Order: sequence, then structure tokens, then C-alpha cells
Amino acid sequence: MKRDSMKEAAKEIQNQFSAEIQQVKTSSDLEAIKIKFLGKKGLLQSLMGKLRDVAPEDKPQAGKWINELKVAIEQALLSKECELIEAAEKEQIKSEKIDVSLPARRRTPASKHPVYAKLDEIVDIFVSMGFSVFTSPEIETDYYNFEALNFPADHPARDMQDTFYIEPNVLLRTHTSPAQIRVLQTMKPPIRIVCPGRCYRNETVSSRSHVFFHQVEGFYVAESVSFQDFFATISEFLKKLFQKEVKVRVRPSYFPFVEPGVEVDCTCFLCEGKGCSVCKRSGWLEVMGAGMIHPHVLANCGHDPEVYSGFAFGMGIERLTMVQEGVSDIRTFFENDMRFLRQFPS
Ligand code: DAH
Repeated sequence: MKRDSMKEAAKEIQNQFSAEIQQVKTSSDLEAIKIKFLGKKGLLQSLMGKLRDVAPEDKPQAGKWINELKVAIEQALLSKECELIEAAEKEQIKSEKIDVSLPARRRTPASKHPVYAKLDEIVDIFVSMGFSVFTSPEIETDYYNFEALNFPADHPARDMQDTFYIEPNVLLRTHTSPAQIRVLQTMKPPIRIVCPGRCYRNETVSSRSHVFFHQVEGFYVAESVSFQDFFATISEFLKKLFQKEVKVRVRPSYFPFVEPGVEVDCTCFLCEGKGCSVCKRSGWLEVMGAGMIHPHVLANCGHDPEVYSGFAFGMGIERLTMVQEGVSDIRTFFENDMRFLRQFPS
């Protein structure tokens, strides 16, 4: 084969390519033309095959032409590819119109945990009635949790089965009542305090009880505070909590740090005393333990029980939240299941 006819053949392929590349509209067109010219059985490859017939002295020049042609084709294919991509992007932008009438994407804001929502609600009511808020440690000593609260040495609450001990004298508080001691030791009456917080007991976890739970402790100490004062305060509180008139009754009970000690019930907020499933047909809900602060406790904290008296109460938050919100299993509060928690938006 003559050198010039090789040049012509290359030129012809070049012209054919130039004509065909102009017709390329899609990426599959592009792929097809790539195969046709540069593929293993493509036109360039067959031109290469023809090099065999070229005289040896002309081979370098002919090879150079083929190579130049190959580079030119590759470059043209690349710029065509870029062109196609750009065109496709432009098309996409054109079709991507912003629909300003679309509703906004919903964002669910975080909400308070139902137990803490109830705790805050209770604290807010007492604050509105003149009480201040005090927080007391969850890790306590035996002295604050039991001894100063007049618990006899052999009281069952001190039992290893009930109390999580960290060291022989250090424990996780089993109730919020130690706050009474911490406050009474450091403040002068009149004192009106509520102390919300978490407590711990070594109990078997079931639908009714858990190893930790929350309480709100409250107390009022001043000169000549009477049980009447307690009854009036707590009746007002319960009315505000349930947002309706409720009847309040007390039943005698025993807590070492109060005398007398009572359990406080109020008429069921749902059936108003008639009996329903919430109050287990009794018409009454147990709401708290309470009583008049024991003279020993006042004396332990340096207050003369002949001058000062006071009332104290402590209520469990989980039970109350369960009856008010219709939750049947205490464990669900602490499982962090979003399906449960989402039912309590703030
Ligand atoms: N601390 C008691 C408990 O956890 C509840 C309690 C009862 C608190 C009587 C009081 C009270 O302040 O006066 O069971």
C-alpha cells in the first residue's frame, strides 16, 4: 500500500467521523460511534491492520497519521460527552421548578418526657403557691436517707433488698425526703420547699414498679403550722393539678419522719368518685404520703419543735402520670421507644 493512499484512508475516516459526531444526540449514540471508530473491530483498528502492507520506510509516517487521527477522535468524543452532560443538566434544571405551594416539610420538635412534663407541672403549681425549688443529691449517705429522718436501725427500708448501697454508708436515695434534712439544716423557717427528683429501689421490675422512679417532696416549716394548713394546701394543689374540684381524704399511715403520718387520696378525676377503671372502681386515687414533721426531725436539724412545726409530703410521679395519661405499664416510660414517646408532644 502506498503512503498516500494510507493518508487518504485516514482522511476519509476523519471526514466520516466528523459527519457522524454531529448527528450524536444521546449518550447511546455516543457509545455507538465510539465503538464504530475506536472499538476492537472498529475503523481505526482496521486501518492499523493495513499498516502491514505499507512499505517499511513509510511505516513511521503512516503510524503517526493513524495515531493523530486516534487522538483527534478521542478528544472529539470527550468534548461531545461533556456537551451532552451539560445539556442534560440544563434540561433537568428547566424541569425542576420550585413549587411554592408545596406544604413545608414537617419537623417534629423534641418534646419533654411525659414523667418530666408531669414533674414540671407539679413543681410549677407549688411555685405558684409560694414554694421554692431545691434539688438534692441522688447519691446520699445513710444519715440523710434514714438516720436523720428518724428511721429505726432495724427499719425494713434499710434492708439490702430495698436499697442500692454503693458503700456501707453511701447509697442511692430511696426517696426525696432527705431533701428535708439538707434544707432544714441550712435554712431558717419559714421554709416552703419542693424537691423533685429521681429515686432508686432494688425492686423487681414489673408493670407496676421499677428500680428507679421520680418523686416530688414538699414541706412547709414555720411557727405553729397545723394539719389544717396541710389539708388546705394539698386540696388547692390537687384542684389545680386535675383542673376541677376534687374531694380529699386522709387515712392514717406510718412514716418514721412524720407524726401523725397519712396517705392522701382524692376523688378520681375521671369518674368524680363514682368508680371506674382508672380508680379500680373505688372512686378514689392515692396521691401521696404525708404528715406533720416529727419533732425528732426538727430537733435533728437544730429547730426547736416547741416553736416550729411543719408538714411534709412526698408523691410518686410515675403512678400519677400513668393514671392521667392512660399508661398501663411503668416500663414503657424508660424504654426510649419513639412510638411511645411521640404520643406525648409538648
Ligand atoms: N418518702 C416517702 C416514700 O418514699 C413518702 C413520704 C411520706 C414523704 C410521708 C413525706 C411524708 O414527706 O411526709 O414512701
